[in-house]
Amino acid sequence: MESKDKMEAIISLCKRRGFVFQGSEIYGGLAGTYDYGPLGSLLKNNIRDSWVKTFVHDAENMFLVDAAILMNQRVWQATGHVDSFIDPLVDDLVTKKRYRADHLLEEHGVDANVMTVEEMTAVIQERGIKSPEGNALGAVRKFNMMLATKVGAMEDSSATSYLRPETAQGIFVNYKNVLDSMSPKLPFGIAQVGKAFRNEITPRDFIFRLRELEQMEIEYFFHPEEPWEEMFDMWLERQKAWLASIGVPSEKLHAYEHPGTARAFYSKKTVDFEFEFPFGTKELTGLAHRTDYDLGKHAEWSTQKLTYFDEEKKVHVVPHVLEPTVGLDRAFLAVLTSAYKEEGEGENMRTVLMFPKHIAPVLCAVSPLLKNKPELVAKAREIYSSLKKEFGRVMWDDNSNIGKRYRRQDEIGTPFCITIDFETLEGDTKDTVTVRKRDDATQTRIPISELPSFLKS
Ligand code: GLY
Repeated sequence: MESKDKMEAIISLCKRRGFVFQGSEIYGGLAGTYDYGPLGSLLKNNIRDSWVKTFVHDAENMFLVDAAILMNQRVWQATGHVDSFIDPLVDDLVTKKRYRADHLLEEHGVDANVMTVEEMTAVIQERGIKSPEGNALGAVRKFNMMLATKVGAMEDSSATSYLRPETAQGIFVNYKNVLDSMSPKLPFGIAQVGKAFRNEITPRDFIFRLRELEQMEIEYFFHPEEPWEEMFDMWLERQKAWLASIGVPSEKLHAYEHPGTARAFYSKKTVDFEFEFPFGTKELTGLAHRTDYDLGKHAEWSTQKLTYFDEEKKVHVVPHVLEPTVGLDRAFLAVLTSAYKEEGEGENMRTVLMFPKHIAPVLCAVSPLLKNKPELVAKAREIYSSLKKEFGRVMWDDNSNIGKRYRRQDEIGTPFCITIDFETLEGDTKDTVTVRKRDDATQTRIPISELPSFLKS
């Protein structure tokens, strides 16, 4: 299937089956925003929970925080975001539309990662590069991506705040609080999941490049004298293993190390995992060595002591930091595009989302074979209620005929469909049900009493 067709099919499925909708759709939308629907919200929650389970619950010395999105403006002055969190912007001189200059150059085979805005302007002029509409382009300039807002009743500059452009700083400003309240020993990590905002010049590729996004970030603090190369590789492996566990195959990931001049202003080494999305191989995760840049800056600007006491050597040190980060929306998209399959032909054709069972929005659907037979419906409702109580992710489904039901459940990635038929009610097969499996479309009969253990396994 063509990548473009696949992307269109996925976007259409997302809308049709309640995964993802355009933000503010009834008003014509708001560029760079999307809303998650009933099934999308469940899938997103399951991915988020799986990340927290892997990196916090199943790990040692990892602490979760949930910091405010609005922060004192001095946070962003201290870190350099006010001056340096920028993208290169270029105007179409006729339509006045704005574009990312580096993306336009990339489309003309020019790697703009290492260029200044002046160099980009020069290349655009020398090569006569035009806007996508074929018009002349202006000079490339810096555009700050932070979304500013005013907090409180004052309108002066003291009221300025920003919707955080990364969750990372909510961690750094709480480093001392976590140290004082939890007394961890180095190395330890602080994790956070939450919204971040970026005024992207050209939001695009569905939920890939958003203006409102959700990040899952860890700051892993370690002794400045500890060798970090092995730790760095270990974090790369952990990121890859977690992605594999949610159905993102390692062979579709490509490690990309940022060349020196293209690294974020705070980083000593950065390696992204790029993923083969249908619209191209693009960044999914990042791992940055941020040194003591952030703690150093915050100590300087806040005049607070943000050190760690090394008991052995009896000295105060400023820890260094590795930052594994992943966009939740991008992880969602990688999961979705990895899970999406079209199988069979003609009558047997089916669209199926092969989600790993622990993240599927619905674990099982329960149906009476026929919805106009009260005895089947009553038994089915009894089984539904008891499974719903135990597993939560259970759907009642008595729509249309059984074949269509299976197709509809395949399309939302439900691993099991349980059907209550006449054999459930009497004879040798009394108190057994049909369980139809999504992955191979086979069916087995299982005693009702064994359903919970079957679903757990
Ligand atoms: N904290 C790294 C990022 O937001 O990309």
